[in-house]
Amino acid sequence: MIKIAPSILAADPLNLERDIKKAEIAGCDWIHVDVMDAHFVPNLAYSADVVSGLRQVTELPLDVHLMMDNPETMLDAFLDAGASCVTIHAEIRSDISAMLEKIRKRGRMSGIALKPGTSLGIMKEYFRKADLVLMMTVEPGFGGQKLDERVIEKIRMLKEMGYKGEIEADGGINEKNLEILVENGLSVAVMGTALFRNPDMEACVKRLHSIGA
Ligand code: DX5
Ligand code: ZN
Repeated sequence: MIKIAPSILAADPLNLERDIKKAEIAGCDWIHVDVMDAHFVPNLAYSADVVSGLRQVTELPLDVHLMMDNPETMLDAFLDAGASCVTIHAEIRSDISAMLEKIRKRGRMSGIALKPGTSLGIMKEYFRKADLVLMMTVEPGFGGQKLDERVIEKIRMLKEMGYKGEIEADGGINEKNLEILVENGLSVAVMGTALFRNPDMEACVKRLHSIGA
């Protein structure tokens, strides 16, 4: 069954605990935390302190997406804060393999994210080191964008290449386009706007979970 990971980027920043509880009651599987450094992406979002705050109020896995350059400077902080999965971007200049190994050594899921325009070829080196591949379906930085349909083919190819870990997508996902993503191998859907702006999140999550079931 597809796992639904609400992105708190679309939650009410002044009522995060309330919105997390709403997502829990609605049956969401993970909580996706978009961390942004205003350098790798033109936006700024969430610190490790927010992750430790979230860790106090939910049992759900915290799926932390580091949209930042030099994530090695903050990796311990996010791991200490209680992140369940930490995903770094394939486009950064740091030692990606060392960070993926470090995340696993701390008993968490290691993830690698690709922007829509980054080719899958880069993935060969990380196949066995990443428990999750995050295929960005929008240019990272902002919620509420339109899904880039070219990424559907990348998801299919990753599956075809024999990748066995979680395949996650993030950006512009809604009830209409989730089906084709699942058909092509998606196992985790990050959704912000489509969930938090939905008047009945619980009914929406029920419908989403039935896709491909
Ligand atoms: C982009 C962000 C968004 C967000 C989800 O960097 O990562 O993808 O989580 O956005 P929407 O609102 O499109 O579901
Ligand atoms: Zn994200």
